[in-house]
Amino acid sequence: MDRPCLLPFLLLAAAAVLTSAPGGALAKSKLAKKSDDIVNGPLLTDKLKAKRTLIVGPDEEFKTVQSAIDAVPAGNTEWIIVHLRSGVHNGKVVIPKDKPFIFVRGNGKGRTSISHESSSPDNAESAAFTVNADNVIVFGVSFRNTARAGLVNNQEIRSVSAMVAGDKVAFYHCAFYSPHHTLFDSAGRHYYESCYIQGNIDFIFGSGQSMFQCPEIFVKPDRRTEILGSITAHDRKVDDDTSGFVFLKGKVYGVGEVYLGRVTAPDSRVIFADTYLSKTINPAGWTTIGYTGSTDKVMLAEFNCTGPGSDAAKRVPWSRRFTLNEATKYLTIDFINGKEWLPAYYY
Ligand SMILES: *[C@@H]1O[C@H](CO)[C@@H](O)[C@H](O)[C@H]1NC(C)=O
Repeated sequence: MDRPCLLPFLLLAAAAVLTSAPGGALAKSKLAKKSDDIVNGPLLTDKLKAKRTLIVGPDEEFKTVQSAIDAVPAGNTEWIIVHLRSGVHNGKVVIPKDKPFIFVRGNGKGRTSISHESSSPDNAESAAFTVNADNVIVFGVSFRNTARAGLVNNQEIRSVSAMVAGDKVAFYHCAFYSPHHTLFDSAGRHYYESCYIQGNIDFIFGSGQSMFQCPEIFVKPDRRTEILGSITAHDRKVDDDTSGFVFLKGKVYGVGEVYLGRVTAPDSRVIFADTYLSKTINPAGWTTIGYTGSTDKVMLAEFNCTGPGSDAAKRVPWSRRFTLNEATKYLTIDFINGKEWLPAYYY
């Protein structure tokens, strides 16, 4: 990071907070706080103003998560809370396209989980949790695909913990566990705040337009494969200007070695910014394994990362190291038009 960039940026940021935010003092004090302090279940509940709550648990009206989702009327237009009691909720869950405005609220990612065992050659088929509806908010739930690791060269390695295919979907304080292909961020605008994501090969993948704010990414070793895995595989469609994965202010660590991303399309777009990268990141940083097209338009970038895995010396030449100017459009929730639809977010 060259110094001359830093000062103007800070001044600019300070000026923006003071002039544009209504109630500048409030915004400024929020800026200093950590994300964990500002977004929790009660705050989201308050913001969404839901009129109905469906409770799921062994002693509640709804025994399974899916039965509560099924009880939401098709074409729903007002926020409904589906509250999951602490404990493990077994079984596949699908929020269908015609049931928007659902707030799935758990008691915290360490307490409430949705768990399902499924592996398949087909990603969507394997998912433990699927969101096909727009306008879905999730707080404090762990999603686990408990499929076993399987055999070397077995094609049935897809074991998605969550597939997110609706627009305007946000996860706060959630966790995603699976041996492989953990988070299928398929399509639409998404926000993940303070989420934990674990896996080995292409474990955050799809064509989504998504921001991962303060994520914790844990790399697990996988002895089934000779190749090094990759954290991301962003499949941006050629005629689509907006999709991409943005990782901000998080940390990446784990066991074994992986790449930050794998090129899967001529326009793959991923940026890691202000992120701690441990030595679990291979010095080359990014890979084209399994891809034979051009890397001319690929945008796999890093900005202002730290840690032993962030060293630029051996990075593949087609990856990018952004200047502040190039990175700016990816550093705020405007990248996902967040101010228009997010009930709460971290600055
Ligand atoms: C670089 O990242 C650090 C945190 O690692 C942050 O404090 C600083 O503001 C960032 N600099 C820029 C120019 O974004």
